[in-house]
Amino acid sequence: MTIYRARVLDTPDDPFRGGTLRSDADAGLAVTDGTIVDRAPFADVRARHPEDDVVDLSDGVLLPGLVDAHVHFPQVRIIGGLGMPLLDWLDRCALPEEARMADVEYARGVAAEFVTSLLEAGTTTALVFGAHFAPAVDLMFEAAEAAGPRITSGLVVSDRLLHPQLHTTPQRAYDEGAELAARWHGRGRARYAVIPRFALSCSDPMLAACQALHDSLHGSWFTTHVNENPAEIAKVRELFGCDYLDSYHKHGLVGPRSVFAHNVHPTDAELGLLGTTGATVAHCPTSNASLGSGLFPLGRHLDHGVPVALGSDVGAGTGFSLFKEGLQAYFAQRLRTDDGVPLTPAHLLHMATAAGAKALGLDDLIGDLSTGKRFDALWLRPAPASTLDTALRHATDPDDALARIFTHTIRHDIANVWVDGTLVR
Ligand code: GUN
Ligand code: ZN
Repeated sequence: MTIYRARVLDTPDDPFRGGTLRSDADAGLAVTDGTIVDRAPFADVRARHPEDDVVDLSDGVLLPGLVDAHVHFPQVRIIGGLGMPLLDWLDRCALPEEARMADVEYARGVAAEFVTSLLEAGTTTALVFGAHFAPAVDLMFEAAEAAGPRITSGLVVSDRLLHPQLHTTPQRAYDEGAELAARWHGRGRARYAVIPRFALSCSDPMLAACQALHDSLHGSWFTTHVNENPAEIAKVRELFGCDYLDSYHKHGLVGPRSVFAHNVHPTDAELGLLGTTGATVAHCPTSNASLGSGLFPLGRHLDHGVPVALGSDVGAGTGFSLFKEGLQAYFAQRLRTDDGVPLTPAHLLHMATAAGAKALGLDDLIGDLSTGKRFDALWLRPAPASTLDTALRHATDPDDALARIFTHTIRHDIANVWVDGTLVR
């Protein structure tokens, strides 16, 4: 057993449903085999376990590991392509890089950079858009297995309107997905996700193959894009003759194990369907701002009972930091002058941790630092004289401290990261 002594902030009770930030100024977390077996004021935990090792993290703040609900592994090297709307950005930046994933050595390098970047950002769990090439997806799973993060991912499939090297057939998509899932689904912390890139690039037979694969795999996840950009939405309507979400729904792909990225321009009917089926939306605020996709209608999602988690959407998003995404989510609501949701620091932390855990069906394991959960955590220890250090020393209360964390934290402030109780950074 190891006892971690720290100031701990987490959100076990959903602030969108009346919960508040939980702050323990001097907590003890006793961890055995990666599970938190005791949590109480440090003095009490110490008294109950007087012989065990203590790791003193008092000089900083301990948070639950962050959960990125939408991130693209092949796009690490193209972060920062500014000045284009979605379809131009895909054509000029994303798709040429995605085609390079056919080269195994190139993909191996990107996979290593990707997994390192997650951990450097304090992200311990992610729902990952894989590559269009199965060997590249294997390499990413291998890199994650070696380095530690919990990954749900899979082959990205498309059969039209992308660059032709990225097209496959429904049968091949099914077969290669099934082979990847046989290797990775349920192996260690890895799980398989079925991933059509977006309805625009998938025919009905391709989405039917996705449905068949998803149905054949017990506990698989489903993820894709929806309602990101008006030109994209118009094209999907032209192709399918229906609302964007219905292009997936008619194939049985909207349900509690589905995560839809963006949803910046939904109809009320689509929000109603998301709410009743229990699907989650991954809100990707820096990407939405960078591509000019729009200001996320969070209030309408909440009105319809749609769960919302946070995604970095690297590489349209501007980096791996979910602190930056949280801050940008706050900005976006401030800029929606009519109906913006006044997000508190507790909302931001919840969206970056517990909401993502729930979206991935991992909420019995992770998302906060309660007794019984796995010890997936990050320790912020601001460097002396860093802006975060100054800001935290002048914070007036725990919510204010958390606001400052979302405002100031950069990679150098993240001192340690654990997954399942193992130090991974
Ligand atoms: N829609 C289809 N593919 C992509 C992608 O790679 N990034 C984003 N942001 N939207 C997409
Ligand atoms: Zn995306």
